Amino acid sequence: MTLTISNLTKQFQAVQALSGVSLSLAPGRRAALLGHNGAGKSTMMKIILGLIPHDAGTVLVCGAAPGSAGARAQVAYLPENAAFHPALTGEEQIRHYLALRGEDPRLAMGLLDRVGLAHAARRRIGTYSKGMRQRVGLAQTLIGRPRLLVLDEPTSGLDPVSRRDFYDVLDGLAAEGAAILLSSHVLTEVEARTDSILILSGGRLVAEGTLPDLRARAALPVTLLVRPASGQASTLAAALPGAQALAGGLLRLTCPQGDKLARLSQIASLGAAVADLDVIPPSLEDIYSHFSRRDGQ
Ligand SMILES: Nc1ncnc2c1ncn2[C@@H]1O[C@H](COP(=O)(O)OP(=O)(O)OP(=O)(O)O)[C@@H](O)[C@H]1O
Ligand SMILES: [Mg+2]
Repeated sequence: MTLTISNLTKQFQAVQALSGVSLSLAPGRRAALLGHNGAGKSTMMKIILGLIPHDAGTVLVCGAAPGSAGARAQVAYLPENAAFHPALTGEEQIRHYLALRGEDPRLAMGLLDRVGLAHAARRRIGTYSKGMRQRVGLAQTLIGRPRLLVLDEPTSGLDPVSRRDFYDVLDGLAAEGAAILLSSHVLTEVEARTDSILILSGGRLVAEGTLPDLRARAALPVTLLVRPASGQASTLAAALPGAQALAGGLLRLTCPQGDKLARLSQIASLGAAVADLDVIPPSLEDIYSHFSRRDGQ
């Protein structure tokens, strides 16, 4: 395992930031850490990096203690609000980081090219857009071929195309065997671009798995939208008691997953009274809020 965490606990004065968190991340796996503001995502990342101590539990980064020389050589970090020197060019900034890590500064252009920033490498970072600055941050994390990338909200503020490019770079790194742990508030992107989802709520890991796993475990109801044929609205409403009438005569029904097929055949039996039918599975947002309810129930 590239990263192993067991029973991790961290308290800040009165705040229990993490309680009994256990997880592991294998080489080449991409995991998304989700959770409301204050759930403990950044705290967990800082502990993995060895930037802050933990109270109890064990954390192993490539078999080494967080913050040890062995761990630091293998892990790269992109903090939540990475700031760079505005007067430096992208190339100068990356050359600087390379020199700090004892690497050849001439590697800078190759790293910037990898994140799609070669064209702007000789411009000052002060003139970069937010997405371009995020790419400088990503280029910096590529230094030294890390085995574990810890990225705190790396795509926040990126447009959809930049986001896709960003995940393309991560896919390449994962294919080379790097493990990636990233936090995000954008549910739709992590659905498609990560291997597993970890949901933190109030410092506890409340769910872990692939999206289909979580979907099945949440067992949230399915929504059916039924459109009556012209002049059939009242017939249909009478045949489907409990349906909610929406604008345009549309009827909305919810039912447990297990009852879906029976419900569909009942609606199909209404024949010509039905003009159309849509089945809407629970959304990622529904699943997320199911597991991360703020009230902790
Ligand atoms: N240095 C600190 N001193 C005291 N409390 C802290 C400190 N750092 C974090 N906390 C508290 O720990 C909890 C978890 O914070 P953390 O920054 O890990 O949340 P997060 O999941 O990253 O949230 P966000 O989505 O807003 O970035 C919060 O209640 C926060 O106020
Ligand atoms: Mg945070």
